[in-house]
Amino acid sequence: MSLKIIIFLCSMQSFTCVVAMTCQNKMNETIQQKSRWHKDFSELKLEQVLLKSKIQKTVSLKEHLESKGFEYDAASHVYLVDMGNGVFAVKRDNGNEEGVAEVSAYQLNNFLGLDLVPPTVQRKIDGKWYTLQFFVEGNPKLMSEKTTLSDIQSAVSKKDFSDMNIFSFVIGQYDNHKNNMLVDKNNRLTMFDFEVIRIIQHVQYGGFPFLRRGNWVDVKTNLDGLNSFPFDKFSTLNDPTLEELREVFSPYWAESLILSFYKYIRYMPNKELNYVRWRGFIWVQNKISSRRVAVTDYTENPSLKGLDNLSLKKLEAIFSKPVFQKRHIELILQRATILKNALKK
Ligand SMILES: Nc1ncnc2c1ncn2[C@@H]1O[C@H](COP(=O)(O)OP(=O)(O)OP(=O)(O)O)[C@@H](O)[C@H]1O
Ligand SMILES: [Mg+2]
Repeated sequence: MSLKIIIFLCSMQSFTCVVAMTCQNKMNETIQQKSRWHKDFSELKLEQVLLKSKIQKTVSLKEHLESKGFEYDAASHVYLVDMGNGVFAVKRDNGNEEGVAEVSAYQLNNFLGLDLVPPTVQRKIDGKWYTLQFFVEGNPKLMSEKTTLSDIQSAVSKKDFSDMNIFSFVIGQYDNHKNNMLVDKNNRLTMFDFEVIRIIQHVQYGGFPFLRRGNWVDVKTNLDGLNSFPFDKFSTLNDPTLEELREVFSPYWAESLILSFYKYIRYMPNKELNYVRWRGFIWVQNKISSRRVAVTDYTENPSLKGLDNLSLKKLEAIFSKPVFQKRHIELILQRATILKNALKK
């Protein structure tokens, strides 16, 4: 080997070394930066703590909050775990599919730079999968069962509230009741509980979504040929009896879903149930008194720009199969476009 080649190879090696060290430093910097969630730890560092740290103690979240004097309605499958280093996490025994939805929501939130969903991971504990999510301490003044969504809106910034609506619309989080949000001690808004984003849904900006639930049935309707969802062609059942509900919804729905949905109708304004039969499915509008349509009046919101960077490829990396299918991803992209177009007007 000539001297020139040896010198060239040596300099390449040290160049690779410098690049590797720079990357490592960058990684360390990212880990060491603080975040909205923790005064010393970045999101990445918190993810690592959630994934790897030894769990010191587990208590029921409901009992913990009640012991602090908050009248709280946290579900029994939600726990508070001490991860050491002063980091606490919410552990949810919510099954793999819902866990995937929680983590995907966190990742999309990161991709859009929204800072609303706490670091969330899936972790196997004693042979079973759970989600672990950074525990956010709430503003004690807004931790009452009497807290309303308007109280939350008044407490947080215009941008946070607008971001919540942008994110809800795009990701399909229609279950946006006040207990799926939290105002933290610095009056920043926090979102969690994204299990419903797994449901295929069509929504118009300013409206409640139509949800595809139940089975595909080989029944043709005169709406099937329409290219886009027939939003204005829905039928309505007014305060239906169980028999009337069965007549329309079977065979699309199993009897158990019909029975549980029958109880749900009382939460719909005037007990009116809107539905459409389209392309082999029955689509039911989730118009519920305690939910709000996801709209924003803050059209100058800088977060809207983040939507321009979404693509099929990026979303496929965030929303993985088999929980999420191509249709979910296409609809997320479609909703991002609907939102941007609606706000341009
Ligand atoms: N990361 C978090 N930080 C702080 N509190 C949290 C966090 N995640 C969840 N909680 C609390 O736990 C409660 C229940 O969590 P979650 O909504 O995921 O469970 P759930 O079973 O869906 O409850 P529900 O059916 O009432 O919506 C929330 O209302 C909230 O008060
Ligand atoms: Mg919830």
